Amino acid sequence: MTENAIKIEGLRKTYAARGREGAKEALQGIDLDIPRGGIFGLLGPNGAGKSTLINILAGLVRKSSGKVTIWGFDQDVNPRQSRAAIGVMPQEPNLDPFFTPRQSLEVQAGLYGVPRSERRTDEILALIGLTDKAGSYARTLSGGMRRRLLLGKALVHSPQVLVLDEPTAGVDIELRNMLWANVRRLNQERGMTIILTTHYLEEAEAMCDEIAIIDRGAMIVRDTTANLLGRLDTKTMVIEPETPADLPELPSGVTGERRADGALVFTYQSGKTPAAAVLSAVSNAGIAIRDVRTADPRLEDVFLELTGSGANRT
Ligand SMILES: Nc1ncnc2c1ncn2[C@@H]1O[C@H](COP(=O)(O)OP(=O)(O)OP(=O)(O)O)[C@@H](O)[C@H]1O
Ligand SMILES: [Mg+2]
Repeated sequence: MTENAIKIEGLRKTYAARGREGAKEALQGIDLDIPRGGIFGLLGPNGAGKSTLINILAGLVRKSSGKVTIWGFDQDVNPRQSRAAIGVMPQEPNLDPFFTPRQSLEVQAGLYGVPRSERRTDEILALIGLTDKAGSYARTLSGGMRRRLLLGKALVHSPQVLVLDEPTAGVDIELRNMLWANVRRLNQERGMTIILTTHYLEEAEAMCDEIAIIDRGAMIVRDTTANLLGRLDTKTMVIEPETPADLPELPSGVTGERRADGALVFTYQSGKTPAAAVLSAVSNAGIAIRDVRTADPRLEDVFLELTGSGANRT
């Protein structure tokens, strides 16, 4: 047994040509180890290959080549054990419209061979906030409720690894917070390893210990969230002057901009320029300061720098 929850070696996927569309190389040789017990973020722009990778883990998409080991079980050698170790909430809803949430969970538990006495249907319904809707047909559930039911289905067999493919897409803020609180609880109290994708980078920043960014089927970077944020030492300082002011003369390495609302925005490398140098340039120009604030780089900045694309393109 290894210490990894997931081990991926040389994973490739080429979707066969269909109609007028040529073959598509969605994953071009991915190597990735995901340790046990953490919350791991898989990020990347639209079409990067995230869902392809996740669906291969789930056994929903057949890989072209490479090796996938889940909780120590090679997917090709021990398909049943490797499947039992993982629960996947897919990006695309795959619910039977004529099942109620309770039936969906029961059927899913049956598929995984969970004996009736060990089923936790009521507990899961409560966890996903669908106790009230337990008897309603899936087709009458709202989009957000359907997504929560998908999460419930991923949990029926108490997997060691829980994979969430854009769990909060189209989910309102209150539910999103509830969902993340639940995911954290599963991680902390049950020790479940969590792997998630999201286009909301502030979520990834807040939730994930480690992050991998893929783009066009290839791994771009993989590091702890803290290290990724530390890669950029760009700081932003926003100064609101007492009275309207022009940009002062600036030390080299500092760029300035006067915003439409009159605020002066300075960008500098914290490793090269101390904040005090920016402040004294402002006061030397005779500008009285009403308010000042600084901002650290966000995961969004790192993402944009590494992929050169928008994060919220969905
Ligand atoms: N069933 C399929 N047949 C053919 N091509 C596919 C299929 N599924 C995905 N692709 C292609 O593979 C590439 C990766 O798609 P994938 O869904 O894995 O991306 P993603 O990173 O999950 O994107 P998103 O952020 O939009 O969910 C895309 O170019 C997509 O068009
Ligand atoms: Mg996807």
